[in-house]
Amino acid sequence: MPQSSRKVALVTGSTDGVGRFVAEQLGADNWDVIVHGRDAERGAAVVATIAAVGGAARFFSADLSDLAEVRRLAEQVAKTAPRLDLLINNAGLGSGGAGAKRQVNPAGVELRFAVNYLAGFALTMRLLPLLKGSAPARIVNVASVGQQAIDFDDVMLERGYSGGRAYTQSKLAQVMFTIDLAERMKGSGVTVNCLHPATYMATTMVRQAGVKPWSTVEEGGAAILQLAQSPSVESRSGLYFNGLAESRADPQAYDAEARAKLWALSLKLTGLKDEGI
Ligand SMILES: NC(=O)c1ccc[n+]([C@@H]2O[C@H](COP(=O)([O-])OP(=O)(O)OC[C@H]3O[C@@H](n4cnc5c(N)ncnc54)[C@H](OP(=O)(O)O)[C@@H]3O)[C@@H](O)[C@H]2O)c1
Repeated sequence: MPQSSRKVALVTGSTDGVGRFVAEQLGADNWDVIVHGRDAERGAAVVATIAAVGGAARFFSADLSDLAEVRRLAEQVAKTAPRLDLLINNAGLGSGGAGAKRQVNPAGVELRFAVNYLAGFALTMRLLPLLKGSAPARIVNVASVGQQAIDFDDVMLERGYSGGRAYTQSKLAQVMFTIDLAERMKGSGVTVNCLHPATYMATTMVRQAGVKPWSTVEEGGAAILQLAQSPSVESRSGLYFNGLAESRADPQAYDAEARAKLWALSLKLTGLKDEGI
């Protein structure tokens, strides 16, 4: 069980890449960290690294391509964590590897939209009561500078699919969700911001895309940690950062009508309701 003196953070996709770096940093910084991914062995390794520096951590597994598993993860967190001060929606699939071909989740939702965006939407919505009860609390959505406007006539990319298009529309969806949720969370003590951590960090995702890394997980991790715990962004919400600097996202992110369409679609696909948030 978590130690009550520590603040609790859930970092999705923290068995690898920049998520792993961030989880380990938070653990070393006296946070109680919920490590998440699909691979139990790698999860245990992250927990052991945090324990070795005197930190507290446990691993919860869930495949975020399946909304039933997202629900189970949220229930597990709500049941076992007395509070949740920080949620970092970081798990993601890149544009390379198997992503070259269109894939769908068990419900027929295009896979990158499902894992990179919809899972974070559903997880966040399900954890809002716990976050609000722990306020001041923060949500950080790890998006990307790679963004492409969503075509609401073909969100599932049945026409003209490419791994790059699937990835970039899912990343813009995260930014749009951030802006809308921030508006809805006004006055609750829960802030939500998003960012492009760094370009082509040396991670599995970048290796799978066949790209030579340009930056390190330390660089991207520092940008994520700034939004997660820096006093400089305390009480600030609905923002998009490029690395450490506040920035502007794709124009569609600032189109209220497009955001409303995405919100309605997300509720429909997840079966969730937004009453009371
Ligand atoms: N790398 C970059 O240069 C870059 C640039 C901009 C934005 N980003 C964003 O940064 C985030 C982290 O990227 P990264 O480069 O660190 O990636 P990574 O090294 O490939 O790690 C991805 C993480 O997400 C988890 N994950 C993937 N699919 C999942 C699923 N279906 N269910 C549950 N967990 C899943 C993986 O867990 P498993 O252990 O189970 O595989 C892993 O922990 C992503 O959102 C990415 O879009 C990265």
